[in-house]
Amino acid sequence: MFEAPNSAAALARASQKLANGVSSGLRRSVTPILYFERADGPYFYDIDGHTLVDYTLGWGPLILGSNHPAINAAVTRQLACGYTFGAQHHGEIELAELITRVAPGVEQVIFSSSGTEAVQAAIRLARATTGRDKIVKFEGHYHGWMNNIHVSHRPRGNDPFQPEPGFGGQPVSEYQHTVTAPWNDLGALECCFAQHPGQIAGVIMEPLLVNSGSCEPTRGFLAGVLKKCRRYGAVSIFDEVITGFRLALGGAREYYGLEPDLSVYGKALAGGFSLAAVGGRSEMFDVLRDGRTTHGGSYNGNPICIAAAIATINTLAQPDTFKRMHAHGHALRAALEKAAQSHGVQFLTCGSGAAFSAHFGLAKPPRDYRETLAADAADCEKFRAAMLANGIYLLPEGRWYVSAVHSERELEIATKAIAVAMPTIAPATH
Ligand SMILES: Cc1ncc(COP(=O)(O)O)c(C=O)c1O
Repeated sequence: MFEAPNSAAALARASQKLANGVSSGLRRSVTPILYFERADGPYFYDIDGHTLVDYTLGWGPLILGSNHPAINAAVTRQLACGYTFGAQHHGEIELAELITRVAPGVEQVIFSSSGTEAVQAAIRLARATTGRDKIVKFEGHYHGWMNNIHVSHRPRGNDPFQPEPGFGGQPVSEYQHTVTAPWNDLGALECCFAQHPGQIAGVIMEPLLVNSGSCEPTRGFLAGVLKKCRRYGAVSIFDEVITGFRLALGGAREYYGLEPDLSVYGKALAGGFSLAAVGGRSEMFDVLRDGRTTHGGSYNGNPICIAAAIATINTLAQPDTFKRMHAHGHALRAALEKAAQSHGVQFLTCGSGAAFSAHFGLAKPPRDYRETLAADAADCEKFRAAMLANGIYLLPEGRWYVSAVHSERELEIATKAIAVAMPTIAPATH
């Protein structure tokens, strides 16, 4: 039994003055709602005295865990030199050079402060470049919370081509140019181009659909999307806010060997600091140089976040970092699957080693958002609660993030927790 009375009291106090008690709506789904006083490496310490192995990574950014000496040193050095300039500094040049060195086909970048903002910048670049308005996005993909793109993230209707707003307060007029399609279906994408001839500015996608059950792209799908974009004159956009600096140093571009027109980065890019970027071939940014459009932000290129990003990337670039990270994830996946099998629980994992999803009740890996709906959400939550009671902090919907600082020790703790938690899901007949 996991008890957190201090966190419960803190939430009650927060709810008096902090609207809804939390600072981002999605955090309400991570129950019980916990308060943390510090974090170190792969461990989170809550205000009730629990030490938790963290596989949430702050929803992805903590690719080097917390309190990492390289990030701390870089940020501390920068603190003494200035917090923000709203002007130019060497760090942004260095980081732009670094990203263009590690991300295949990225020749230039621009910076923003969050993934949501950077996605908007990419959409604007696509529209200004093509002179068209429509953006295709796939069901179940998440690209931030803006009205034009937070559409069909968790659709309830039966028609995948019918865009559905994510929340209240999203007027139809703001997503009238958003076209939706099912993931992993090139025929469906072809229909979108056919229905909106000469109108589609860009196609945006999470190359690995981590936000909806880590559905992997089927063989040839991503390459097929890029080809169609080229054929119809639309800008292809990988939203790499999760996959960037996670699947590989060069993100999904390197992992899948593909070069879309634009990639959007965030989260792991700065190891926990608020920085995002859009990268692509230089010609994709002509529209900024010739004044067809612009991109702004008081905090763009913030020197503290830039310093954190340089330290993060240089640390990630050390030999075998990604090999170890993926190996850790695959060992977790194997432990989960073995435990499920030995307790007669229908279960599978899918995704990569560095980010994967665990599904109860599925017989085969889901191909798209709609197939993830067949998974047993109640068992998934029950398992998460049992893991928490055994010292492992996980995100909802079975999502696991692995960092470069998770070691054999945490693997052992997690494996023991799995051995205790999985039988709580075991069928009654077992
Ligand atoms: C794929 C993807 N794109 C964009 C975003 C939005 O990023 P941010 O939360 O930094 O605004 C997220 C956030 O989870 C994401 O997962």
